[in-house]
Amino acid sequence: MNTPTSSAPNPRDSQGPAAAAPGAPATHTPASGALPRIAVLATGGTIAGSAASVTNTSGYRAGVVGVERLLEAVPALSGVAQIQAEQIASVDSKDMSLALWTTLAQRINELMASDEIDGVVITHGTDTLEETAYLLHLTVKGSKPVVLTAAMRPASALSADGPLNLLNAVTVAASEAAHGQGVLVAFNNRIHSARDVVKTSTYAVDAFQSPEVGALGWVQDGRVEFQRKVLRPHTLDTEFVIGAQWPAVEIAVSYAGVSRVSVDALVAAGVRGIVVAGTGNGSIHASVQQALADAVTQGVAVVRSSRVGSGHVMRNGAAPDDTLGFVSAGSLNPYKARVLLMLALAAGASGNVALQKIFDTY
Ligand code: SIN
Repeated sequence: MNTPTSSAPNPRDSQGPAAAAPGAPATHTPASGALPRIAVLATGGTIAGSAASVTNTSGYRAGVVGVERLLEAVPALSGVAQIQAEQIASVDSKDMSLALWTTLAQRINELMASDEIDGVVITHGTDTLEETAYLLHLTVKGSKPVVLTAAMRPASALSADGPLNLLNAVTVAASEAAHGQGVLVAFNNRIHSARDVVKTSTYAVDAFQSPEVGALGWVQDGRVEFQRKVLRPHTLDTEFVIGAQWPAVEIAVSYAGVSRVSVDALVAAGVRGIVVAGTGNGSIHASVQQALADAVTQGVAVVRSSRVGSGHVMRNGAAPDDTLGFVSAGSLNPYKARVLLMLALAAGASGNVALQKIFDTY
């Protein structure tokens, strides 16, 4: 069992008398006076959303509040870190694009290599946060903390959750304990690994969970504690790099009465990979399974995942992967499996044996 690690051993964030801005956590006043330098990259989302009334938490516009205003709403940040803010984009994350992923990952990698920055925080929409987080987990090249955060209520709302989530994300990024843990998500006082975290509620403030494995740790009142480590390789230990080219990979779904029409259309459109969100333990309706088997014979990579939301898909369990040439996604949900399949194909992997090894590793 892993020994819990907390931020306490870091002299930068745990020592010295309180000398911070009003409301700042005393635990982050450094003995040296030099606070960690954290880059906050804003991409939009509900955390930057605004509505006409403070009680409107569903009919608002995401991504309209600039990063400077987000930071101004949290004066306590000045006691935690020296902030460098950048507005990378202002999107509702449902509209996240592959081009924006490339821009974001490349900018983070520049910051990873810079002597001027100690960690990175990304503000993001909740809707595709788990996909962006996993993409960065596999492609960021550095051990400095990279922490995503978001909000379920717009910045204009009564009891907006964004300000505390932002403060906690910066607190985690400024923490020595977060180094080398891969990309993290700080949300509602919990710290999740990018690999495990998923959005599990359409409305609740406690919207993110790490099914099966639980959160990595927690952050509260300026204290950061990790309860376990991420075991699978990430960041510096992957073969994946961000490039400008993304292989076309789409997701098909299996459900009662489904036909093979969508899979055939994807193959005709020239996709290089299909992730199927199967039922249960990755079982697939017979019509779709035959369409996917046909796709494999045409050189399309097929990965079998589950739409259930937790658990894992056993290789050769609910479908004969060896016979059909499929790959099992293991414990990755369909959206994260798509991210990994895109990166694997972009890295030149091909064939179900090589791809299965990648899915078993990451
Ligand atoms: C978005 O994902 O950008 C909108 C929804 C949210 O952030 O909660």
